[in-house]
Amino acid sequence: MSDVLTEIDAVAASATTELAGAAGPEQLEQWRIKYLSAKGQVKLLTQFIGKAPPDQKRVVGQRVNEVKDRVTAAFEARKASLAAAPAGPLVDVTEPGRRPQIGNRHLVMKVVDELTELFGRMGFAVAGGPEVEDEFHNFVALNIPRHHPARDPRDNFYLVPPDGEAAGRDDASLKLLRTQTSTVQIRVMETTPPPIRVVVPGRVYRPDTVDETHLPMFHQLEALVVDEGVTMIDLKSTIMQFVHAYFGDEARARFRPSFFPFTEPSAEVDVWFEDKQRWIELGGCGMVHPNVLAACNIDAERYTGWAFGFGIERIAMRKYAVGDIRHFVRNDVRFLSQF
Ligand code: DAH
Repeated sequence: MSDVLTEIDAVAASATTELAGAAGPEQLEQWRIKYLSAKGQVKLLTQFIGKAPPDQKRVVGQRVNEVKDRVTAAFEARKASLAAAPAGPLVDVTEPGRRPQIGNRHLVMKVVDELTELFGRMGFAVAGGPEVEDEFHNFVALNIPRHHPARDPRDNFYLVPPDGEAAGRDDASLKLLRTQTSTVQIRVMETTPPPIRVVVPGRVYRPDTVDETHLPMFHQLEALVVDEGVTMIDLKSTIMQFVHAYFGDEARARFRPSFFPFTEPSAEVDVWFEDKQRWIELGGCGMVHPNVLAACNIDAERYTGWAFGFGIERIAMRKYAVGDIRHFVRNDVRFLSQF
């Protein structure tokens, strides 16, 4: 007796399991034929009633009917839920696309491109030089003598910290991270006879205290022009042309007399920051000192030159209204992705 009931339950169990696995109308129809058609396994369960002894017919009949009702109801429910589900993959073609996140060039690199392009249109070629420099190119050839305070180990990143003896020894083997791109003026003049007209974008390093306008590593744009008959007028007019072409006609710049060992006369250039309501120094400039030309075997009687070295982050701050130079090195994508 219990064997019969177990058999009925087994048919019910396999019918339910297979029904859950029927994923579409065709599988559902196959399932229906297997279990609910005239010769289906559930329909055939009625045979058990006939075969059962008279005193058990009632119990078996009740179980068969109960299974038939339950399985039929489950079939109807499954059929309804499959009909409600959309056919094919679940894609809403009306939904707006999600843009993939891709990187972009760092603002400093973008400004470098803009500057070299602008100066390119003014006839300047691009030059470069090493970031690890020797004292000759960083100081000596730039007319910065042995005991000049600019060579103090505390103001430079010497690669091997020099002892008191070694400091300022004009030793070609003494290396440091360059403090200025003016080093490349020397490298260009060593290898190229005048006329020279180059700009040099590059990184420079100084043990400065970090604040709103200072970083220990930043970028400079150096310019060097050497030719016959070059004067201070060329220097000033080229810089003003750059200021107006890059920042706009209304931009204001001023020249302040200054001193650099490698230029004479020398000046510092400030630009007006409208958002900060103050002047900020872009860098220095001047007429190339005859000693510098001589160190590069250029005839200072025949040739004159001018040069400048401007901070590229400061230029970018003025152009793109960046309030603090530290943004350039924080690596915050909310800042970086704006440009
Ligand atoms: N090298 C100087 C600095 O880093 C800036 C500078 C001044 C560059 C005068 C020049 C120049 O080319 O002529 O502060």
